[in-house]
Amino acid sequence: MDNSVVVETMKDGPNLIPGPLKLVDAHGKEVVIDRKWVALCRCGQSNNKPLCDGTHSKVGFKSDEAKFYRP
Ligand code: FES
Repeated sequence: MDNSVVVETMKDGPNLIPGPLKLVDAHGKEVVIDRKWVALCRCGQSNNKPLCDGTHSKVGFKSDEAKFYRP
């Protein structure tokens, strides 16, 4: 199994990670997200953390250029 992770950082937006994936919170609760791409909030303003809900656009979140992280 390939355990490599690809993260795409969107300019002025979320981090995109290919799904499906499993998230584990600080209490050990696991959530499986069965989507082709999962958008994780980077602005801190989402009402559905850790997922992006588009609020970054409403609050005018600004960030660096888009980046890609590959192992
Ligand atoms: S990055 Fe989209 S709501 Fe935070």
